[in-house]
Amino acid sequence: MNLKTVILAAGQGTRMKSSLPKVMHKLGGLPLLEHVMNLAASLECEDVTVIYGHGGMKVRSELGHSHAAWVEQREQLGTGHAVMQVAESIGGDQTVLILYGDVPLLRKATVQNLLTGIGDNAIGLLTVNLENPCGYGRIIRNTATRRIERIVEEKDANDEEKRLTEVNTGIIAAQGGLLKRWLSELKTDNVQREYYLTDIVALAVRQGHRVESVQASSEDEVLGVNDRVQLAHLERVFQKQQAIGLMTGGVTLKDPDRFDLRGEIIRYGRDVEIDINVILEGRISLGDSVRIGSNCVIRNAVIGDKVEILPHSIIENAAIGDCSRIGPFARIRPETNIGDHVHIGNFVELKKSSVGSGSKINHLSYIGDTTIGSRVNIGAGTITCNYDGANKYRTVIEDEVFVGSDTQLIAPVTIRKRSTIGAGSTITKDTPEDQLTLSRSKQQTIKGWARPTKNRSS
Ligand code: UD1
Ligand code: CA
Repeated sequence: MNLKTVILAAGQGTRMKSSLPKVMHKLGGLPLLEHVMNLAASLECEDVTVIYGHGGMKVRSELGHSHAAWVEQREQLGTGHAVMQVAESIGGDQTVLILYGDVPLLRKATVQNLLTGIGDNAIGLLTVNLENPCGYGRIIRNTATRRIERIVEEKDANDEEKRLTEVNTGIIAAQGGLLKRWLSELKTDNVQREYYLTDIVALAVRQGHRVESVQASSEDEVLGVNDRVQLAHLERVFQKQQAIGLMTGGVTLKDPDRFDLRGEIIRYGRDVEIDINVILEGRISLGDSVRIGSNCVIRNAVIGDKVEILPHSIIENAAIGDCSRIGPFARIRPETNIGDHVHIGNFVELKKSSVGSGSKINHLSYIGDTTIGSRVNIGAGTITCNYDGANKYRTVIEDEVFVGSDTQLIAPVTIRKRSTIGAGSTITKDTPEDQLTLSRSKQQTIKGWARPTKNRSS
């Protein structure tokens, strides 16, 4: 099939009450329009055009990387007018598929049914039965033959028509040559004074062509986003679908209703367990038996086997080696590489650092621009002072170093193998291997010293 997909995305989206174009609002971390573009791409359709309008440049620049052609509809004079913008480029032998940029959950299988169903017919319509059809175009069928005759928009419908529950989802496939002709025959003789794409149905029937319909598998897959309430509803539907996919694949989700994946788990091992209110963003890889505690946020990370991430930890652009334990309340910032069997404890922040296997940073520390070797122990309250107000410098802590609590390491500085740093030190120079280094004023006791007492008068 020679397929041309046209994505309508020029509508203003006034009900979003936003300065962002509607189709740029995100569902599962991706702009609505990108969901639709991905669907188009999955159909192996080479010829994809996006009709954009309001706030269009922003849409184009953020999504322009894809293969699609972009055509501006300067004035929004209706769905028919939107498709007219590409009429010139429609090939007579093409099948034209119309998708909406604000209907993000449409399934590939449904579109394939529609495309197969069109067969020798002129038009294939994706319809759905709605308990509350209000606002949608109604499918009018011949009472005797049950064949589709036309579509009437809500605003143009009489009371009897309004009672019909089979509605137009807006997703349409049509034969290119015929569609081109019908587009040139569209009129604006309706309540909204718009060019309705839906009027091609009546034109086709009048000219002796057949119009077929395919039913959507669920209401949610054809729901459009008009306001933020609908956006939130579809977000939950989408998250539930992803959650079910993961659980089916062997991941335990303590509560699928309190799980958010805004991106993609590119790989997961066996027996992964995820507690409530975890947010995963970007591209994530999870090894075997990874356990993620409640309220963690993990973005673009590679997590090894048997890693335990305790509650309230935040990990971003980082890799965690096998059998390591992170958190609770740990913050792993970008460009951090953590080896195997590492412990990162509460209120520890790491940035642009690497930590060798078996090392421990268990409490209250800031480690930035640092290379830590293996089997290093960093005491509570250690700070790598990496910034002099103008530039950043690196700290190197070699294998088997022991850093006592409440230590400041003033970078650039290297703590050599098996050094021990006495607690409370400020280290400004490289330390020799195997030695104890400390910088601490001598403890003294003042004999006979008396505590001040309160003045009687005050
Ligand atoms: C349209 C259908 C209606 C269907 C409903 C499903 C028509 C006349 N009506 O109605 O039968 O039940 O969708 O949601 O087709 N758009 C443009 N340019 C325009 C107008 C719209 O690109 O000039 C785009 C919008 O961005 C949106 C889509 O077309 O993605 C549908 O537009 P919308 O205004 O929501 O159509 P409805 O009036 O709801
Ligand atoms: Ca709509």
